[in-house]
Amino acid sequence: MDYSQLFEQRYSVRAYERREVEPDKLRRVLEAFIIAPTAANRQPIGLVIMQTKGHEADLKRVYAADWFTSQAPYVLVGCTLPDKAWVRRDGRNYADVDIAIAFDHLVMAATGEGLGTCWVGAFDPAAAREVFQLPEGVEPIVMTPLGYSADSPRPKLRKKFEQLIHQGRW
Ligand SMILES: Cc1cc2nc3c(=O)[nH]c(=O)nc-3n(C[C@H](O)[C@H](O)[C@H](O)COP(=O)(O)O)c2cc1C
Repeated sequence: MDYSQLFEQRYSVRAYERREVEPDKLRRVLEAFIIAPTAANRQPIGLVIMQTKGHEADLKRVYAADWFTSQAPYVLVGCTLPDKAWVRRDGRNYADVDIAIAFDHLVMAATGEGLGTCWVGAFDPAAAREVFQLPEGVEPIVMTPLGYSADSPRPKLRKKFEQLIHQGRW
């Protein structure tokens, strides 16, 4: 199983073709979100999928980039339900960890299907609550367009191995 190629291939896509995604591909990408592990298997998460067509103006209020509002056919919104999440004994709520894992599953599945994504965290949360009609208790945490890339990968700039990996102690 060669997963390393998948990691190499994923990059933040900030230009998309105006081309539909096949329904079976879309389904497999969404299934990856559901199969992800969550703390105590609580799955305190949910996903809103919105077609960009006809919603461009609303999406612009959420995050104004053209590559978000109107190029790819879909925008996906990863949400948490913090009240339903597992909480560690010291009070640490794991909802954000759960959504990050599930969203990354989805992003990697999209990569495997030849589709592009870009994590978006810098959106307007108040606009997102309105546009995606999120009920109380549901928090928008991450978003991505989903579609075919019209962008090209850039070299990956990352910290050195020794800067992030600590042997035995920090
Ligand atoms: C949690 C998270 C939030 C992000 N938010 C944004 C964002 O709001 N806008 C954006 O253009 N990129 C956003 N990014 C993309 C990062 O800038 C990008 O992943 C990073 O620079 C590494 O580049 P690469 O994804 O091409 O490897 C976000 C990434 C993550 C993981």
